[in-house]
Amino acid sequence: MCGITKRFGQVVANDQANFSLQGGEIHAIVGENGAGKSTLMKILYGLCQPDEGEIYFRERPVRIDNPRAAIRLGIGMVQQHFTLIPALTVLENIVLAREPRRFKIFLDTAKAHRTITALAEQLHFDLHPNAKVESLPIGGQQYAEILKALYHGAEVLILDEPTAVLAPQEVAGLFDCLRGLKAEGKSVILITHKLREVMEIADSITVMRRGRSVASLPKAQTDLAELSELMIGKHLTAPPSSLQQEEGKEAGGVDQPMLRMRDVTVHAVDGRLLLDRVQLDVFGGEIVGIAGVEGNGQNKLIEVLTGLRGIDGGKVTLHGESIANRSPAAIRRRRVVHLPADRHRHGISLKDRIDENLILGRHNRPPFCRRGLLQRKAIQEFADDAVGKYEIRTGGVNLPIRTLSGGNQQKVVVARELESDPELIIAAHPTRGLDISAARFVHQQLIDARNRAKGVLLISADLEEIMHLSDRIAVMYGGRIVGVVCPSETDEAQLGALMLGSADSSSDLG
Ligand SMILES: Nc1ncnc2c1ncn2[C@@H]1O[C@H](COP(=O)(O)OP(=O)(O)OP(=O)(O)O)[C@@H](O)[C@H]1O
Ligand SMILES: [Mg+2]
Repeated sequence: MCGITKRFGQVVANDQANFSLQGGEIHAIVGENGAGKSTLMKILYGLCQPDEGEIYFRERPVRIDNPRAAIRLGIGMVQQHFTLIPALTVLENIVLAREPRRFKIFLDTAKAHRTITALAEQLHFDLHPNAKVESLPIGGQQYAEILKALYHGAEVLILDEPTAVLAPQEVAGLFDCLRGLKAEGKSVILITHKLREVMEIADSITVMRRGRSVASLPKAQTDLAELSELMIGKHLTAPPSSLQQEEGKEAGGVDQPMLRMRDVTVHAVDGRLLLDRVQLDVFGGEIVGIAGVEGNGQNKLIEVLTGLRGIDGGKVTLHGESIANRSPAAIRRRRVVHLPADRHRHGISLKDRIDENLILGRHNRPPFCRRGLLQRKAIQEFADDAVGKYEIRTGGVNLPIRTLSGGNQQKVVVARELESDPELIIAAHPTRGLDISAARFVHQQLIDARNRAKGVLLISADLEEIMHLSDRIAVMYGGRIVGVVCPSETDEAQLGALMLGSADSSSDLG
């Protein structure tokens, strides 16, 4: 790709960007939120047309007017936000674009089934073609997306932040799969914010900054420090490591927990235990981390705490008052805020403007609404402030939110929730999809809230994040809290063992 320029109104998403890919390599693209990574790859996949520049494929100039043209060339893409249809099966989703027809009339399901099963086996994906996509964990949905691209003949596979939503074990599985593809001579383009992953898997790396490709180099010739410097154009100093242990720890000297869960039990419709006598305390002025492999009850716990799910037994209290089985609105009124794990699906309203998304949930209350009238000025001021404070890269707060880059959409949700004067923050994967400096900023916001005696419950698949921020860490396994440990008295090995249910530890809540 040579001299690619793409403008959206005032915004220059790609500015004379260059990119080249060798056959059989894994090539990472890195850069801050809004740097133009997704746009460049959407151009390669025919989802966007460049204003300037040329694309050469196997040394011939090509026009890629739409994804069909890309697929014909053997280019496949898994987008930053998945595009599968939840109500359909894996097979239906995969063959949607190109259905094998018997006698050119009937969809040859049996043949598609055989091909998909064989592909899944070859890649060691544990995925049933007849499973409904909505029933799959996020890792499984991703596998379905990859299968879809390969089924349609991808020789070049573009993955836009595939690991942002995966648990560490799933990342390892994905990387094995990518190595397998590489061994077959296929090429992979991987967009990610996780520089350690880049150093683990990539052969070469392209760095983007403000729409330009500022460097393209073999991994062997670079390191983490150089990459982050190239990304942000300056040297990033290490964060003060002790910052979270300083002030405000015993704020108010309260010994009553802010949030208390006792013997909380939730059954599935089939009687299975989803939450099994969960005991958990969060005090004002502390960050409690929940570590665990995805699917061990974390989501149910969040649903209970945000009013999305009732409980079958036990107690949940906030400042001594029960909040179990209350509506989400009632719980929000008690200033419990929630950064949902899947922000794209549950956190934003894609068809609305940035400012509207920033006040969502408070749009019918002062200062944003008085006597039924929206207060445009108050909304504008609040939105401008949030955009400045959270460094949301946009041409203006009255643009539709879908014009933001993926990471900047995430920042809108984070800003809205954290700026609403919360008492208890339930933060699920709060830095997912954010670049390094944005992630640090969000960490600092959580620490500040903690230091103002607020409660923070941090759910994250990122052990480093959990270890760095938490005052105490509760480990969930099989719907139970199997241990509560202090970060200073544990290590990733012990946590890992607890997370896999292979260590014994008393549920000491003290
Ligand atoms: N459809 C669109 N309309 C208007 N502006 C857009 C559109 N798509 C992207 N942009 C703008 O182009 C710039 C680059 O966006 P892009 O999505 O390529 O960033 P990115 O590097 O993928 O960032 P992230 O890490 O946050 O996903 C951003 O400033 C974004 O707001
Ligand atoms: Mg992106």
